[in-house]
Amino acid sequence: MKRREFLAGALALGACSPVPSSRAQESVSSEGLAAHARRSGRYFGAAIKSRQLREDPDFTAAIARECDMVVQEYELKRGTTEPKPGKYDFSGADQIIAFAQKHRMKARGHALVWYAAQPPWLGPALKLANSGGREKLMTSYIDVAMPRYAGKISEWDVVNEAIEPNDGRANGMRANSMWMQALGEDYIDIAFHHARQTDPRATLFLTDFGLEHDSPRCERRRTAMLKLLDRLMARKVPVDAVGIQGHLKPYKEKFNQDLFARFLDDLRGYGLALSVTEFDIADKGGPPNPGKRDNEVAAVAKAFLDVALDNRAMRSILCWGLSDRYSWLSNFPDYKWADGQLSRGLPLDGQMRRKPLWDAIAAAFDAARPIGRSRA
Ligand code: XIL
Repeated sequence: MKRREFLAGALALGACSPVPSSRAQESVSSEGLAAHARRSGRYFGAAIKSRQLREDPDFTAAIARECDMVVQEYELKRGTTEPKPGKYDFSGADQIIAFAQKHRMKARGHALVWYAAQPPWLGPALKLANSGGREKLMTSYIDVAMPRYAGKISEWDVVNEAIEPNDGRANGMRANSMWMQALGEDYIDIAFHHARQTDPRATLFLTDFGLEHDSPRCERRRTAMLKLLDRLMARKVPVDAVGIQGHLKPYKEKFNQDLFARFLDDLRGYGLALSVTEFDIADKGGPPNPGKRDNEVAAVAKAFLDVALDNRAMRSILCWGLSDRYSWLSNFPDYKWADGQLSRGLPLDGQMRRKPLWDAIAAAFDAARPIGRSRA
């Protein structure tokens, strides 16, 4: 593959691999992205909310058509599921998993151990506990969430967002994390060992963001991630896979295919499986004309996915949402448009119509050399 660099704020469309138009595609077939993924031996999925399934039949039909994998956008985060110590509410996640089962989709679990979206009682409880108690406060969630969905959730984000070089630690670890503060880096080892024991069939993921771009920020984060993996592998921590979140911001940072390909090769070198777990593209800062912006967003997505899917360890692509109707980017302070218009960083627009980004994802799956699709 001849690879190239995509400049922040100056996406030269003419230089990009062509993305076929969706209207042409739709007239020949109504196949969803999952069908394209399947032919390349992969899965395609999206993050969803149970409320969308309850209240939005158009969106629900689009999920059923496009996806063969789903993940909860927030309904397995502990701040939602354990509002009071030991008092659980899995109603949202249960609905999502029931939907996945009904439609014979795979499901991911997001996320067991994270520094964010934790219930307010947890921080103070950790401060009061002794070391055994602190460990238990972490593993107790694994004990409840994993068995509940055993055989239904096949892969778990066991630890999400462990690194943050901006926190000032020489090794790039996230210092401003209740788990790091309570247990040190060992929290990662404990979480993975515990998860392995609790559901031996599940694929165990370490996931993080800011690994994608050609920028000093992402370079520091890639280095921190690889060094962390060196230590985890040396300690034989049972990490099976790395999830690249894939929140792209092409109008802020450059994307370089070679650089990203090398990083994925490095990850594969550890024997790890890979997935893009939260793909979307922040379009803020792009051309005001939405059509032009859609084409640029699609071009950078194609550049990114061509590299991701060139790696034989890459097993699935999941978008963080499916339709612009519900993108978190429309509300996130860094990415939302000042005039309130929807972010256009997902494959379907607000009316569930396929956009050039949809075509880019389909085309990237179509162009990828197939791998043997795992059934686990
Ligand atoms: C986001 C959700 O999309 C939002 O609805 C919520 O308010 C905040 O969290 N990385 C992650 C996800 O791992 O859990 C985040 O999801 C987006 C960034």
